[in-house]
Amino acid sequence: MLAGKRILLIIGGGIAAIKLPELIRALRAQGASVTPVLTAGGAQFVTPLSIAALAGNPIHTDLFDLTTEAEMGHIQLSRSADLVVVAPATADLMAKMAGGIANDLASTLLLATDTPVLIAPAMNVRMWEHPATARNRATLAADGIRFVGPNAGEMACGEFGEGRMAEPAEIVAAISAMLADGPLKGRHVLVTSGPTHEPIDPVRYIANRSSGAQGTALAAALRDLGARVTFVTGPASVAPPEGVTVIRVETAREMLEAVEAALPADAAVFAAAVADWRVANAAGQKMKKDGKGSLPALEFAENPDILAIVSQMKAGRPGLVVGFAAETHEVERHATEKRARKGCDWIVANDVSPGTGIMGGTENAVTIIDATGAEHWERMGKAEVARRLAARIAAALGAG
Ligand code: C5P
Repeated sequence: MLAGKRILLIIGGGIAAIKLPELIRALRAQGASVTPVLTAGGAQFVTPLSIAALAGNPIHTDLFDLTTEAEMGHIQLSRSADLVVVAPATADLMAKMAGGIANDLASTLLLATDTPVLIAPAMNVRMWEHPATARNRATLAADGIRFVGPNAGEMACGEFGEGRMAEPAEIVAAISAMLADGPLKGRHVLVTSGPTHEPIDPVRYIANRSSGAQGTALAAALRDLGARVTFVTGPASVAPPEGVTVIRVETAREMLEAVEAALPADAAVFAAAVADWRVANAAGQKMKKDGKGSLPALEFAENPDILAIVSQMKAGRPGLVVGFAAETHEVERHATEKRARKGCDWIVANDVSPGTGIMGGTENAVTIIDATGAEHWERMGKAEVARRLAARIAAALGAG
């Protein structure tokens, strides 16, 4: 699948580097050629000799190595690949990338490259969650850097949480997705997905039954057509797809912020089930029963309508804006009205009345409303709906 593809593989200094031999073997098994670059930290975990032997290519370690510089300058090296992969991407490497710092070979290559970059972060959960890393993640995502992982699980340091490097097979899948030649190659598509959680107090929230399945399938289908996908997801019960940039949010207001930060995009698809209201008087501390049977009075405020805001943008509106409509009755009429009210180009409407099993289920029966009218699709799997929608989006962008 990766025959003839050239991958520049930057190996950062983290314990996850011990999985790199497996990654290199898997990439070569698929026909890719791998040029390894080892940071000083990376060399503490794997040896240059073993990596070079597995890669079957010379390894680069030092910015000021005259022999290698004479063979291939670092600028040329940074541009000689189809894809630059950083694995493991440490907090330090991510910070350097976000800040444009170039003080060793790896960071210099990352600053000099004009090739797409995929990073597989790996670090302690506290480092991953630190506001500084969160800022760097957002900066890198906005710069078009793609992420694979990290995953949640037990860490080498004994703690548990998000920060484990994606498995080699997942990294290979993300690489394949990025190198796929499809009609949407070079296009950026934004997808929102999942429910939102609106806090009542620090431990309680208001949510809805959305699983995120349709949005996830759609993001995967767009990726498979070669698009660069930014996937803004609420707390969904299905895992986000590999090979897309995942931005996790909880509330509607966070989702709007993430969407605005992810623009511009060629197309934006709003599959999230966003809460219409948030609790205006959410408590800063856990609410307690007072023993006298008094009931809390929740007050609500309206959430921003992300789809409407993006549809009605004066400048920088995506060329195609697609909304979803979950309706329980008179689906076509309500969806047609919704399209006009929000100002989007298409509405993908579905009937979520109880008994259809659609919300949270594996199948969907949709009606597409656009400027020309309504198009009814028979009931089919959500993955198939996603494939057909992605193809329709590619066609609308003139890429089909
Ligand atoms: O108005 P309603 O919630 O039915 O509209 C559904 C569509 O609008 C979906 O595409 C949903 O993602 C989007 N939406 C949004 N922000 C909101 C509410 C809905 O983007 N606050």
